Amino acid sequence: MTNQNRRDFLRKTAATTTAASLLASSRFVHAQDAAAGTTKSPNSQMSVAIVGVGGRGGSHISAMLEADGVNITHICDIDAGAGDRRGKLIEEKQGKRPIFETDLRRVLDDKSIDMVTIATPNHWHALAGIWAMQAGKDTYIEKPVCHNIAEGTALIAASRKYDKMCQVGTQCRSSQAIIEAFKFMNEGGIGEVKFARGLCYKRRKSIGALGDYAIPSNVDFNLWSGPAQYTDPRLTRERFHYDWHWQRQYGNGDLGNQGPHQTDIARWGLGIDTHPTSIISYGGRLGYQAEKKDPNYVDAGDTANTEVTLYNYGDKSIVFETRGLSVDNSADTEINRLFDSTSGNKIGVIFYGTKGYIVQREYSYCVAMDKDFNQIRDFKGGGDHFGNFIDACRRRDRNVLNADVREGHLSAGMSHLGNISYYMGENNHASVDELQAAVDGIKSLDDNAATLERTVKHLTDNGVDLEKYPISLGPHLEFDPEAEKFTNLEAANPWLTREYRDDFVCPTAENV
Ligand SMILES: NC(=O)c1ccc[n+]([C@@H]2O[C@H](COP(=O)([O-])OP(=O)(O)OC[C@H]3O[C@@H](n4cnc5c(N)ncnc54)[C@H](O)[C@@H]3O)[C@@H](O)[C@H]2O)c1
Repeated sequence: MTNQNRRDFLRKTAATTTAASLLASSRFVHAQDAAAGTTKSPNSQMSVAIVGVGGRGGSHISAMLEADGVNITHICDIDAGAGDRRGKLIEEKQGKRPIFETDLRRVLDDKSIDMVTIATPNHWHALAGIWAMQAGKDTYIEKPVCHNIAEGTALIAASRKYDKMCQVGTQCRSSQAIIEAFKFMNEGGIGEVKFARGLCYKRRKSIGALGDYAIPSNVDFNLWSGPAQYTDPRLTRERFHYDWHWQRQYGNGDLGNQGPHQTDIARWGLGIDTHPTSIISYGGRLGYQAEKKDPNYVDAGDTANTEVTLYNYGDKSIVFETRGLSVDNSADTEINRLFDSTSGNKIGVIFYGTKGYIVQREYSYCVAMDKDFNQIRDFKGGGDHFGNFIDACRRRDRNVLNADVREGHLSAGMSHLGNISYYMGENNHASVDELQAAVDGIKSLDDNAATLERTVKHLTDNGVDLEKYPISLGPHLEFDPEAEKFTNLEAANPWLTREYRDDFVCPTAENV
């Protein structure tokens, strides 16, 4: 973009923002009209707007095209190119092109819309969802449902205040395989179960060097930035879309990307209906110097690609392990047996029972094993998570939702709490001995020392020189699940929310 173009672009954006702010103030009128939502007959047509039509938005479109009695009447994206591509595709399949808008607030001002689905980057989820519910729309919001704890609480409050359905995009909640595996587990199939380990062993290569990159000309960067900072307008990462996941202003690393599926399954399976009472993380963004064969290489991401988080829930505990480097030929003997694989990604949850294991290996596949790793059962079958949302909207019954916003908040919250410990300890570089001493002191149902040992081996196997690029150790944080406050470290509490830009302030639960 030339300087002249950029100035024009900024002027245009400022004008759009002012107009949009005026639009925003009228949304509350609609909220009064629509708060009382009425039951729709199973055959009545419903109108849906899809917000964010990039990667995941494509799945929202497919699901809504397949749903009976649903018309995609609007799509919204700050990237006009994405809007055009998706608009054409929908027109081909549906026979009618949806209205395209770049500003969500314009979409929400249309009273004819019943449902809004949101597949924007994470930093937009809560604000977009709250605006949508204030405007009287039922919402389906991608995981993680919020970017911080306060946003999640506000979303729950909005859903209750405006009596709107708010389904979270943790589609495993609708998976028959998982539902049946949990039935087997709850009937005692693997004995008593108090501990689960979530895994995101998912290879993530470097997203490119930290730098100064131009914003693509077809996007509205002010709107894209929304509740996050506006970076002047330059990018520090090479690729505009998707790689924001690894920049903490917008994304939440893989603990908050893949994590909310598995933290959700772990919590659901163990029957935990609250936040943890203590949390500690260790990890780092490690291994990219070895990958690039450049000791001075600095990757543009600032979230951990290696992170182990321990969550204590009193008599139960969960450990979540994130690994972004290669797990091929790893020496994780037990995990390899549980996943029946020595190479490639391993994404799932292991439940440890006194008589065996349940392993969620895929979205729609679980196995039960005895203590000697012999398979005793398997469970197959997916589900229709969007269909479940639509059904709940028609019936106007929140209890029908498989993934109500409160579940999404508790599970996304696990990612946020883990990341707060990591971010706070980021500069606290620890030797392996220091890490060992720290985890030895943590009450957990895991073998903390063994998990640390495997993590260290994984890093050194991937060429990480831990003397030069050490692991960071976060503080052990104590949390009051009811008050949603840290109790042993006041400095941690500001991390439960963020500073918002004017025009994009996410309301709190009290003022939603
Ligand atoms: N449930 C799942 O299995 C699953 C899978 C993949 C992604 N996701 C989630 O979906 C979300 C999107 O991920 P993605 O991989 O598609 O990212 P992406 O960057 O490919 O797509 C995001 C899209 O949102 C648009 N956008 C950004 N701000 C917007 C705004 N204010 N209004 C309208 N559009 C806006 C972007 O231009 C882009 O087209 C993430 O939160 C991710 O965690 C969920």
